[in-house]
Amino acid sequence: MIEFIKQLPKAELHLHIEGSLEPELMFKLSRRNNIEIPYKTIDDIKKAYNFTSLQSFLDIYYAGAKVLIHKQDFYDLTWDYVLKCVENNIVHTEIFFDPQTHTHRGIEFKTIIEGIQEALNDAKEKFGITSAIIMCFLRHLDQEDALKTLNQALEYKKYILGVGLDSSELGNPPSKFEEVFKKAKEKGFKLVAHAGEEADVSYIFEALDILSIQRIDHGVQSYKSDELMQRLKKEQIPLTVCPNSNIELKVFENYSQHNIKKLLDYDLNVTVNSDDPSYFKGYLNQNFINLYENLDISEEDIIKLIKNSFNSSFISESLKKQYI
Ligand code: ADE
Ligand code: ZN
Repeated sequence: MIEFIKQLPKAELHLHIEGSLEPELMFKLSRRNNIEIPYKTIDDIKKAYNFTSLQSFLDIYYAGAKVLIHKQDFYDLTWDYVLKCVENNIVHTEIFFDPQTHTHRGIEFKTIIEGIQEALNDAKEKFGITSAIIMCFLRHLDQEDALKTLNQALEYKKYILGVGLDSSELGNPPSKFEEVFKKAKEKGFKLVAHAGEEADVSYIFEALDILSIQRIDHGVQSYKSDELMQRLKKEQIPLTVCPNSNIELKVFENYSQHNIKKLLDYDLNVTVNSDDPSYFKGYLNQNFINLYENLDISEEDIIKLIKNSFNSSFISESLKKQYI
């Protein structure tokens, strides 16, 4: 079964590129750019990855991203993930990046987007991997800042397929970003948002009804509302679920408590993704393997989950047909 999982071509729809920063590259960039990090060794970095909640992770994740300064750093970060795609047989990926994490430190928008895009161009050329970039607004910041970021992005619109919403969920509901999502929609961006990772179902309803999103990132709290479950099933709204992430951030106590199999059996449009794989003990294959080893997921379930990912991706219908 593990071999079966590894050899299947896959798509990934929920991956923060900053969350694929491996301790080895963090260490190397901290030296290359002379940026201090609060760790003496690569092992120290790994030991710090012991989270109790989303916020406890975000604090460490934003601190780690400070080593990214130059276009080459964003290229190297993205290229390392591309090599993981090859290892995991990911043939299509839609990656998130958080511009504000970098622009707030004085890094130019152009530096970030060009570094990421060049690595993705090379991924297409060298390995045939197709991709898209989704820019996420940090929800702990205000809407004004998100609007400023959207304006900065317009110059690079050809590289950015969609916008999303991430960072500290509790206390920062989707409705806080109504105007910026409306503007993004008018400009033709695809729309997604993290919702129902830790927060209750009202956040998912708001993301759907106020932001008009096309995919829900996480959404594992949906099971708390029958009304929402029925709607998600009827409209087949994709959920980009990240099992390892949910376990590492204590959304579920352990793997056997994870509800992905239940969501799938209810016929929701569920997909499997790695979120921040460097921080959450593994890339996409490892997420599938953990599901198989802990949740009695069958071969049929795995095929369904992978088909859901291709079907829920933002690629053209003709490309979808090639992949499925
Ligand atoms: N940024 C990176 N990973 C995230 C997650 N799982 N939830 C919210 N924001 C994030
Ligand atoms: Zn995420």
